[in-house]
Amino acid sequence: MIYSRIEGTGRYLPSKVMTNFDLEKIVDTSDEWIRTRTGVERRHIAADDQATSDIGFEAAKEAIKNAGIDKEDIDLIVVGTTTPDYVFPNVGTLIQDRLGIHGCPAFSVEAACSGFVYALSVADKFIKTGGAKCALVIGAEVMTRLIDWGDRNTCVLFGDGAGAVILKPSSEAGILDCNLGADGKYKDLLLYPAGPSKNFHKMGTGEIGLEMSGNDVFRVAVKTLGNVAEEALIANNIDKQELDWLVPHQANLRIIQATAKRLDLPIEKVILTVQDHGNTSSASIPMALDVGIRDGRIQRGQLILMEAFGGGFTWGTVLMRY
Ligand code: UT7
Repeated sequence: MIYSRIEGTGRYLPSKVMTNFDLEKIVDTSDEWIRTRTGVERRHIAADDQATSDIGFEAAKEAIKNAGIDKEDIDLIVVGTTTPDYVFPNVGTLIQDRLGIHGCPAFSVEAACSGFVYALSVADKFIKTGGAKCALVIGAEVMTRLIDWGDRNTCVLFGDGAGAVILKPSSEAGILDCNLGADGKYKDLLLYPAGPSKNFHKMGTGEIGLEMSGNDVFRVAVKTLGNVAEEALIANNIDKQELDWLVPHQANLRIIQATAKRLDLPIEKVILTVQDHGNTSSASIPMALDVGIRDGRIQRGQLILMEAFGGGFTWGTVLMRY
């Protein structure tokens, strides 16, 4: 049996930090409201001249270094992002060019906050079927470009960043299972209502911004994530007690706490970055994974569940041994 296994991880956060106190000066909000309702204390904001490929490239360089691989070995690049530099070329090819490597397939997967889990699942299939021997998988976003900075319901939630992993085949587990899901009937609850083929003229004009029915998203997210997390364990005959770490998408501390509770997992076994990063969409899981690995909490051989939920709605889990 061939598994795909994470050989190395990396992350990059733009240097500019915006605290809740900074936001108090922009909209009618308070540090207390943001912290108690979301868990967010600060977030990083990309510089005006930083695009998704720029921050994704920095995270990729870290992952390559930490995996100890030669960049020339990379034979697949998959990027989860909802905030690409251009319509095309895709962010994967832009990062490929920045890395100075040529020829391997490179593409982006667009699944909102589930983007990294979707991208990892695609790369896992390539590795398991022998279609790739060394995959670079990235989650990178500049979500703050989609924000209406006058809308206190959404502008306090998001941040920018990028995380990356190197995946290689191994006879030792490895990724055990990936499960993805989506339900487009929820399309109107969380969206940025413009793109190249609809409302194009409104993009980037400040006329529109990210829209979210917070309460509805919260309700469906808690229910769906609890269900898919439990289903992932049951499908793999794994007892809740065996789980070492939950590495969740970092949208809201209260959603994360609810999922941990469904898994009977103490919060100490959850990698939390929401307080420092805010919601970075596709980037949140690979960055949290890198934080847990770098600070020594996540150890080789431990059992990890990653889970994500985002606009669409889309969702997904990845169960793996690190
Ligand atoms: O990553 C993809 C998925 N996204 C998510 O998972 C986000 C899911 N939703 C949430 O995390 C939460 O619903 C929010 C954090 C967005 C909102 O928290 P909530 O507890 O659901 O608050 P609410 O929307 O019910 O609003 C409560 C009150 C309202 O005032 P009234 O109507 O009760 O007077 C809001 O106007 O809080 C008000 N409010 C704020 N007050 C201060 C909303 N935003 C703010 C704010 N500061 N930033």
